[in-house]
Amino acid sequence: MASESTAQRRRLVVGNWKMYGSRQENTFLLADILAGWEPLAEVDVAICPSFIYLPQVAEALQGSAIAWGGQSLNPDDSGAFTGEVSGPMLADVNSRYVIVGHNERRRLRAETDQFVALQFVAAQRAGLIPILCVGESAEDRAAGNALAFITAQISAVINLAGIDAVARAVLAYEPIWAVGTGKTATPEQAAEVHAHIRQLFGERGEQLTIVYGGSVKANNAAQLFALADIDGALLGGASLNAEEFLAICRHANTAG
Ligand code: PGA
Repeated sequence: MASESTAQRRRLVVGNWKMYGSRQENTFLLADILAGWEPLAEVDVAICPSFIYLPQVAEALQGSAIAWGGQSLNPDDSGAFTGEVSGPMLADVNSRYVIVGHNERRRLRAETDQFVALQFVAAQRAGLIPILCVGESAEDRAAGNALAFITAQISAVINLAGIDAVARAVLAYEPIWAVGTGKTATPEQAAEVHAHIRQLFGERGEQLTIVYGGSVKANNAAQLFALADIDGALLGGASLNAEEFLAICRHANTAG
């Protein structure tokens, strides 16, 4: 059984709205989140909407404790890249974070470890905090390759950005088989991977924020956050419901 949380790191809860929402739905969701908001001393919170809604989200959350960010970025700062959004553009609308290497983009957009590493560097160059997503498939886990797979994903970024730069970012462990499936990793499975990721960073690992993602809900969050190496969550579905989202943020605040 994993030990109780003793870490001094701040926790982080990030809502990834993916390709959901409309101006009207966002207005209601943001109003409900702000209406139910209570100050959380131990947790940073952010929302990552579709690019097109970032200005709307920024305007609504301005002056609140909730930050915002992008779901991806192009590795170049500007150029002839039709349909793309750059790090400086995300910074221009005061984004604090950007998700890189989400498994939906790795799979559906064929983003490689090397491409994700370039995105990571571009994010930090623009002053953004990258949330680097890693995680194995069900097949890799069944074959006993989960830790090796994740190590390779992280190593590609360390090789380009340097270990200090990666230690300043946020890591998100998202087993592919748990994202959007309703199947959460057991606390033991998550704890094993989080501890493994932390030890890859040696001493620097103590400061590294490592969040878990994959079907986190209000009814399983407390159990996950109680584990020493789980510093918060990257939420998909649960971030589209104000009550769920707020309840998970509160669990992160009181965990450990
Ligand atoms: P989920 O998504 O919470 O809906 O499983 C998590 C994610 O994709 O970050």
